[in-house]
Amino acid sequence: MARKTLRSDHSIAIYNHLTSPKSIHIADTIPFSSHFCNREAQISPVFIPKCNTYTLPQQGDRFVTSPIAANTAKLQEAFRHRRSVSESLTRGLSAEDMVVQSMDDASPAKWHLAHTTWFFEAFVLNKYQDNYRPVDPDYNFLFNSYYNSVGERHARPLRGMLTRPGIEAVRAYRRAVDASVLALLEQPHPRARGLADTVTVGLHHEMQHQELLLTDLLHALSINPTAPAMRPAPPADDTRAAGLVFMPFDEGLYEIGAAGDGFSFDCEGPRHQTYLRGFSLANRTVTNAEWLAFMNDGGYSTATLWLSDGWAQCQAEQWQAPLYWSQRDGEWHQFGLYGRQPVNPEAPVCHVNYFEADAFAQWAGARLPTEQEWEVAAGDAPIAGNFQDREYWRPRAAAGSGLQQLYGDVWEWTRSPYAPYPGFSAAPGAIGEYNGKFMCGQFVLRGGSCATPQQQLRRSYRNFFYPHQRWQFSGLRLAKDL
Ligand SMILES: [Fe+2]
Repeated sequence: MARKTLRSDHSIAIYNHLTSPKSIHIADTIPFSSHFCNREAQISPVFIPKCNTYTLPQQGDRFVTSPIAANTAKLQEAFRHRRSVSESLTRGLSAEDMVVQSMDDASPAKWHLAHTTWFFEAFVLNKYQDNYRPVDPDYNFLFNSYYNSVGERHARPLRGMLTRPGIEAVRAYRRAVDASVLALLEQPHPRARGLADTVTVGLHHEMQHQELLLTDLLHALSINPTAPAMRPAPPADDTRAAGLVFMPFDEGLYEIGAAGDGFSFDCEGPRHQTYLRGFSLANRTVTNAEWLAFMNDGGYSTATLWLSDGWAQCQAEQWQAPLYWSQRDGEWHQFGLYGRQPVNPEAPVCHVNYFEADAFAQWAGARLPTEQEWEVAAGDAPIAGNFQDREYWRPRAAAGSGLQQLYGDVWEWTRSPYAPYPGFSAAPGAIGEYNGKFMCGQFVLRGGSCATPQQQLRRSYRNFFYPHQRWQFSGLRLAKDL
């Protein structure tokens, strides 16, 4: 374990410098990891033998904390806010909307609300409140996701079959746990720092599920042939995308990875040197217009553009366009959270998987960037963009000069396998369950999307998915060798 203790003294000041002060919620500025929940979108469920040994993250081990995390009033404020965001995301949804599970990778909205609540019950209340009595003993089985160390759990593909507890019971569960957590924070605690740290982890866990709630609901609604909208569409965006320009970066030795000046997840470190040959990176992500050119040029029917595994799946599933695209009266439309609408040629292409992204790059005479190139190019760019918080839940065209859209709009596929950095070792216990064990067969995505809460992102953040998966807000940016 290369980094036992991480400094945190300046984490909040630095993060505030990088983000809009108006959107800051204090405890949210201690990012955790996407990997609690993203992995829930990928793991085949199994029944796990019961085990009572569960190790929570501890200060001084893999988590950096902030003095502000120990400020009870601000932590309570952040808790109330983050929990309320989950509720607000379900505004206007019916009970039927919230129970359906459209595929194994996705979970029902009701389950997301319950599981994030279970997280606080299992890891905060059970650990820090003496003689805590669970709201319902069955919920530990129903709403555990993939924590082998916690015990047996309900099969993932059957989450949509859970008509009980109903949504009102789940909301009552949320209220009860919220009240208990806030009451626990109200009083002096002999392990106050550990309590604050764990609540903070729970807030970042909840952020991850807030993105999944939207992506999973989008997939569920897409099954409906009437193409229902989750929300009324915001005003159309007539922004014209900036012209495509490749920006050069010098060959050299660079440092990447979490610098230890703020909370970071273990897979983001250790910070280390990496050698890069000279490369150039596109100033923006690939647009729908460019993707249409790829399609019209036979991109989905030219085997030589594709990786072997990708071509096999392309043929087997007869891919002809990104996920959620369909042709109506000779015009391509795209289904989204605002219903079915004509494809905006200026907006970033979205809902493409790694295989598609790689084939496009081959067709374009370019390649996907490595995650190291992406991070070096990102430099000190502010973590700003079209995030979930803006409630404009579709990618927007990038205007302006210089590198655009590094953050928000669409996750950007890189050609980097999700693998350990030099010196990385998985922590023992449950904390080691959600990163190290997933470092096989997946690729890294960077930058966040229009469905990602802003406070979740940082330059070193590594998201990862399997190369065939398309239902996240995933796009691409091109790179070239110099
Ligand atoms: Fe989770």
